[in-house]
Amino acid sequence: MKRRPVLIDTDTGVDDAMALGLAFCSPEIEIVGITTVAGNVEVQRCTRNVHALMDRLGVDPRPRVVAGAARPSKLSLVTAPEVHGRGGMGTLTPPSAPPVKAGAAKAAHVMAQKAAKHGTDLTIVAIGPLTNLAAAYRLAPALMRSVGRVISMGGAFHVPGNTGPVAEFNYFVDPHAVETVLSLASDLLIVPLDVTEQLILTWKDAERLTQRPSARWRQRLLRGYMQYHELTEGFLGAYLHDPIAVAEAIQPGILHAEPADVSIVAREGPARGLTSEKAPTSRVRQRTQIARSLDAPAFLELFDRFWTAV
Ligand code: BDR
Ligand code: CA
Repeated sequence: MKRRPVLIDTDTGVDDAMALGLAFCSPEIEIVGITTVAGNVEVQRCTRNVHALMDRLGVDPRPRVVAGAARPSKLSLVTAPEVHGRGGMGTLTPPSAPPVKAGAAKAAHVMAQKAAKHGTDLTIVAIGPLTNLAAAYRLAPALMRSVGRVISMGGAFHVPGNTGPVAEFNYFVDPHAVETVLSLASDLLIVPLDVTEQLILTWKDAERLTQRPSARWRQRLLRGYMQYHELTEGFLGAYLHDPIAVAEAIQPGILHAEPADVSIVAREGPARGLTSEKAPTSRVRQRTQIARSLDAPAFLELFDRFWTAV
């Protein structure tokens, strides 16, 4: 089987770690690169978390990991330690690693390089703020438009936000990057809270799935994340935002999507990060799609891989 090349751009917090775990365990795809971006935690921590996760899962050979943007395009960085734990991986605390050189330009360069190499075969999945992706579109717009698919987890259209009343976290952190990507991308699939909140993983599920002693570290990854949901949403469980976006790269069609004309409020104030949609008015705008629903049984079957690996 020919594996489809996928590049993942991540602000490695808890659900990013699950999404990466799922990707590493999926023979349908080859991870040709990982870029990190400041979001859930600082970019050095995101990068360290990716390496720690690959250690845990015994990933071999390892894809190249490049530390990208340390801050959003224009605004100050907002992180989410209350959701993902101070280090980004719940109570798993990876050993500190020496700082590496980070920067949006580095990640943008890698994205453009992979676009040049794999062209329409390449899928890029962005599961953090879009700072790196926007930098890549600015650096090499034509090359980036040759990428087969770009999937972005973010936005909240007809449901409340999870960062303030209207905004979703990734798009709240760097709304200017979202503006750039919306204006330059073709074939962009947005995976908003509207679809990722259609499914809940409960603590009971997690306990059942982590019976094997070698699987227990996943409880330490998840417990605090689920407790946060208990406080804010009223259930001891978790949304699987990023794994759902990555699942679409592994099994295209697991999400049902429709074309839409999307816009975002970038200015600071109560509406920052607010995404809205209208029916597409031109063929160009039809190249942006919003995921509406999820094939939940197919996703859960796929997601089992994360629990049974190592
Ligand atoms: C998104 O924000 C982050 O906290 C999660 O990792 C996910 O990418 C959900 O709003
Ligand atoms: Ca994320």
